[in-house]
Formats: sequence, structure tokens, C-alpha cells
Amino acid sequence: MSVEISLKGQNAVVTGGAGGMGRTTSLLLAQAGANVLIADRDEEAAKRTAAELEARWPVKAAACRCDVTVKAEVEAMVAAALEAFGRIDILNHIAGMSTKVDFLEISEETYDLLMDVNAKGAFLVNQAVLRVMIPNGSGKIVNMSSMSGKEGFHTNVAYSAAKFAVTGMTQAIAKYAAPYHINVNCVCPGIVHTQIWDRLLADVKDAGGDPEAYWQERISTIPLKRPQTEEDVARMFLYLSSPWADNLTGQAVNVTGGLILH
Ligand SMILES: NC(=O)c1ccc[n+]([C@@H]2O[C@H](COP(=O)([O-])OP(=O)(O)OC[C@H]3O[C@@H](n4cnc5c(N)ncnc54)[C@H](O)[C@@H]3O)[C@@H](O)[C@H]2O)c1
Repeated sequence: MSVEISLKGQNAVVTGGAGGMGRTTSLLLAQAGANVLIADRDEEAAKRTAAELEARWPVKAAACRCDVTVKAEVEAMVAAALEAFGRIDILNHIAGMSTKVDFLEISEETYDLLMDVNAKGAFLVNQAVLRVMIPNGSGKIVNMSSMSGKEGFHTNVAYSAAKFAVTGMTQAIAKYAAPYHINVNCVCPGIVHTQIWDRLLADVKDAGGDPEAYWQERISTIPLKRPQTEEDVARMFLYLSSPWADNLTGQAVNVTGGLILH
């Protein structure tokens, strides 16, 4: 077996692929030789990422608008992937969102939004993709959970609920898909300074706190004493999408610098 991960000839769908960790993961999949459909609710950014992939590597890339909370758009995303590539071998479901609101201040609307984007989105996307993957008798699905999907954080009650749902769904779907030789795993990152964290730190400021002090306090709790990079996380998506992970399923893999140990 080669010691280099190759996804040459494989066809991938990446939700949330236009920005943040989704974009970085898409770049890595293309570098490994995969064709990639970038699906994101930000269609213009998705097109830019797809164009970047095709400019840098000899792969096919496509883009489509998809809000993962809308069933019709998720079904259109699967149709777009089949039209572009003929089949889906890999799903990296990365789209998600977070907010930082004191538990007693979380509104019903915010709770519903976080559950919709993170939990219902994972349900709709996994179900729609599995429908076309099962007849192939092979495939790799990697969902984006979080350290908040492994351990509850008092700063993030509704998000923790939603990401525990993603971790649980990943385990259940892994058992459902195993007879079809489809692996289903998820990644649980710790703290990655993407736009999500820009917004969380703005929430801290709006609540009268000191964003820099809050950030440093959170980093100080990490045993390896640094935030995770987008590449740290993208490499785990690449690994779990590859034949190297053929015997892993139902796993929730931490990329947290040692912060979460279970
Ligand atoms: N940043 C962190 O510290 C961290 C840690 C653990 C898990 N996560 C998870 O990682 C994922 C990516 O987050 P990020 O930090 O790269 O964020 P980001 O905000 O930089 O990127 C998120 C991407 O998802 C897209 N998106 C958001 N809602 C969508 C929807 N309803 N439908 C389709 N696309 C949608 C956005 O347009 C954007 O391109 C999320 O699921 C997040 O919960 C982030």
C-alpha cells in the first residue's frame, strides 16, 4: 500500500465547502485527486472555491447553492453531484453554525436555528446521500461534530445539544450503513479561529466581556497550548474519507490538542 493518501477518481460532496474548514478540506480532497462539489448556502463563495480547486489541481469541481436545512435544496445538491460526476463516493458534511449566548438568555428561535442547521441538516444530508450511495455498495461519510458533541459546555448549551445529536446520528447511521460497506464517522474539533469564532468573540464583546481575555483563557485549557488550525481538522476529514479508514466506522475523532480525552 502506498504511504500517500490518493483519492484519484473519487467524487466528493462537501457541504459548507465555501468557507472555513469546509473550504480547507475541499482543497485537501482536490489535492489528493478527488473531484469535488462545493455545496454551500453562499453560492458565490462556493463558485469561487470550486474555481480555485480547478485552477490548482487536475480535478473536476462544481458548485451549488444548498441550505442544508431545506430538504428540496439538499435533494438538488445530490442531483447536481450526480450530474457533474455520475456518482458520490465521499460526503464531507461540514456546514454548521454556533452562537455564544448565556443559557438563560437563549431564545426559542436561537435553539431552533442551532438544532435545524446542525442536527436536522446532518439528518437531511446523510439521508439523501445514503440513498444514492447504498446501491454502489461503498462510500465514506464524514460528519462535522465538535468537542461540544462529546462534552457539554456551559457557554454553549443549545450548540452542545445539536452537536451531541450529530455524534449520536453518526453512530446510528454507521450501523445502518455498515452492511453496504459504507463507513460513517465524525470529527470533533476543539477551537479553530474561523468566522465562527469571529462571531463568538463579537458575542462576548456585545455582552460586555473582553474577547481577547476570553480567547486566551479558552486556549490555556488546551494541553498542547494552541488552537487547532483548519489544516489540523481537514487532515482528519481526508484520512476518514480515504481507504486508510476502511475499518473505522461509528467513530467520533477528537482534534482538540488533548482537551477532550474520551
Ligand atoms: N470553528 C470552530 O472552533 C469549530 C469547532 C468545532 C466544530 N466546528 C464546526 O465546524 C463546521 C464549520 O465551521 P467553521 O468554523 O469552518 O465555520 P465558518 O462559519 O467559517 O464556515 C461555515 C460554512 O458553512 C456554511 N453554512 C452555514 N450554514 C449553512 C447552511 N445552513 N447550509 C449550508 N451551508 C451553511 C457557511 O456559508 C460557511 O461557508 C461547523 O459545523 C461548526 O459547527 C467549528
